[in-house]
Amino acid sequence: MSVQSEMATLHYGDGKEAKLPILVGSEGERAVDIATLRRDTGYVTIDEGYVNTGSCKSAITYLDGEKGILRYRGYPIEELAAKSRFVEVAYLLMYGELPTPKQLNAFSGLLNNSSLIHEDMKQFFGGFPNHTHPMAILTTMVASLSAFYPVPDELKDEEESQIIANLVSQVRTIAAFSYKMSIGEPMIYPSYRLRFVENFLNMMFSSPVQDYQQDPDIVKAIDTFLILHADHEQNCSTSAVRITGSSQANVYAVISAGISALWGRLHGGANQGAISMLDEIQSSGDDGRVFIENTKNKKARLMGFGHRVYKTFDPRAKIMKELCHKLLAKPGMHDPMFDIAMRLEEAALSDEYFLSRNLYPNVDFYSGLILKAANIPFNMFTVLFAIGRTPGWLAHWREMRHSPDARIARPRQIYVGPPMRTYLPMDKRGANRQSERSKSGRLIARPDPAVIQADPTVVRPKRFTDSIRAERLVPMPPAEDGSGPHIA
Ligand code: CMC
Repeated sequence: MSVQSEMATLHYGDGKEAKLPILVGSEGERAVDIATLRRDTGYVTIDEGYVNTGSCKSAITYLDGEKGILRYRGYPIEELAAKSRFVEVAYLLMYGELPTPKQLNAFSGLLNNSSLIHEDMKQFFGGFPNHTHPMAILTTMVASLSAFYPVPDELKDEEESQIIANLVSQVRTIAAFSYKMSIGEPMIYPSYRLRFVENFLNMMFSSPVQDYQQDPDIVKAIDTFLILHADHEQNCSTSAVRITGSSQANVYAVISAGISALWGRLHGGANQGAISMLDEIQSSGDDGRVFIENTKNKKARLMGFGHRVYKTFDPRAKIMKELCHKLLAKPGMHDPMFDIAMRLEEAALSDEYFLSRNLYPNVDFYSGLILKAANIPFNMFTVLFAIGRTPGWLAHWREMRHSPDARIARPRQIYVGPPMRTYLPMDKRGANRQSERSKSGRLIARPDPAVIQADPTVVRPKRFTDSIRAERLVPMPPAEDGSGPHIA
């Protein structure tokens, strides 16, 4: 990174001016450094959804969304997917270089030795109700690891390496155990005889009465899936990891935060969303045209399409599609959903709505088809994403821990609530509440529409959008005539 002699000039207020340095990244990306902005001018910036905001400097992943480029530590994703294994890529992300045979051997050995979880943790799995989403189990169990593997405040290098190995390896073990628990089968332990992906598939699909037959094409497909998901610079879950880690919370809590952020259907949950969508199209007999119209009318989203940073093809989607072609061409593996997906892609990419908004397939458009072909159960799709992303999250956590610039994340806001007002005693509250306005005429105490429901106590989810609101489960305020529930 270099600091340019060129400065950006901000004109503000009544003819005032501030000079702001320009930073240039190693691939020529330019940024206005606003570190001194508030101190020098009293202004902050606002950027909802962080569309223009760089949150850190990082040497892990480079992404050019206009050109469809993705590189880990300088290596093109296409080459890593074709030539490396996931464990090598995990090492690369973490430590900056592709491992030598000796380093890879040592890292693989550490992963193997760290793959068991404490026996006492096994009983936790039984405490979850049937049909618990495995992402809920994963996030809880990963946070619980801190109780069994306490993290010292000051980490030595070997302790850090051990924690990294624990998480990369144990997330996979927890994922497989949660699946076994959900189908009422005994948990299958990891084996030192198997490589990372084979081990996972064996823990998922073998049982005391039946061995699992590994298919090298499935193993390669899952390995590639994990590589393609291993890092993606400052996405929602990685930012959650960095923000949580910036408080110096223990690393298990930090990764658990990443898993929680990943779960949402606009992020890692989109791989489930894409398959649900294809399923819906298939069972309705639609050839995709009705669905496309619905997305244009904002009645639905084309899941697996669009991206905050890619304004052309997501390079990972191209590799996934290629993989689908290979895998689903095998005898007995054809999946009509792949045909639907390709028709949808073709229809969308010749439609003005998608073209004008630069909406192209992202990694999740085809990834679910790969997982489906490998018999991964539908509600485990996002868990597979989490297994793949764990090395990336850890690499960012590690980079931040060792960075001299790291500070606790604490953004500013623009307050838009009521200005200071007089406290209202209980007997004066409620009158004209909905129409209360500030001096400027702005509505200042508008009740949340989500709480205006027939149900007396809580708002219950009905649709996806409702479920976002209902996370707040707001108790109903007492009715103005005094009837209804009372808040003590
Ligand atoms: N289908 C239909 N319209 C879309 C879609 C879509 N998938 N994505 C964006 N749009 C429209 C959106 O309605 C808006 O239209 P308008 O200009 O008329 O208001 C415009 O495109 C810009 O969309 P946005 O929501 O402002 O874009 P964003 O950058 O905030 O959101 C996104 C990015 C990925 C959340 C969004 O494209 C999306 O919801 N895609 C579907 C979910 C998905 O596939 N997520 C996986 C992302 S890749 C895996 C990962 O790394 O998480």
